[in-house]
Amino acid sequence: MKITRYSQLVMPQDANVVGTLFGGQMVSWMDIAVAKAAHRFLKGTEAEAAVTRAIDSIEFEKPVYVGNWVNFESRIIKTGHSSIVIQVDAFKESHEEDNILACTAIFTMVSVKKSSDGSYQKVNHNKFI
Ligand SMILES: CC(C)(COP(=O)(O)OP(=O)(O)OC[C@H]1O[C@@H](n2cnc3c(N)ncnc32)[C@H](O)[C@@H]1OP(=O)(O)O)[C@@H](O)C(=O)NCCC(=O)NCCS
Repeated sequence: MKITRYSQLVMPQDANVVGTLFGGQMVSWMDIAVAKAAHRFLKGTEAEAAVTRAIDSIEFEKPVYVGNWVNFESRIIKTGHSSIVIQVDAFKESHEEDNILACTAIFTMVSVKKSSDGSYQKVNHNKFI
């Protein structure tokens, strides 16, 4: 199964009150990581972009610290008419350790296209995995 990769360095402004990576920041990065996978999937289709319809599950398994790298791996696990279901795993990397699973989530993205009134509406991507 094709993997789409994306990485971020945890900076001091990304920390929460206990000094670990703020969960909302992790979710934001995951949203970008899955958007990249959807963007690649939708090349050559009628769709212009994909938007987040649902975060079906998310689990924070290990804390991530300032100075760690977070390496995201996204995999499309299911496709529907307009939906693209993507699993994203976030692995932390520090000076001492590599590839520790810190957070995992499942996102449902929906392919969209601009309609005549300027709004984005769902469109079938007609593509399957
Ligand atoms: C995305 C959007 C255009 C879809 O339009 P819609 O009329 O709501 O479409 P639907 O309810 O039919 O859902 C579209 C697809 O998502 C699936 N879906 C709907 N609700 C879901 C849920 N809670 N969990 C998982 N999948 C869901 C549907 O099964 C459908 O899949 P399919 O086309 O493959 O059969 C619209 O919901 C929207 O604009 N939402 C806001 C998006 C947004 O602002 N995201 C945050 C910023 S990116």
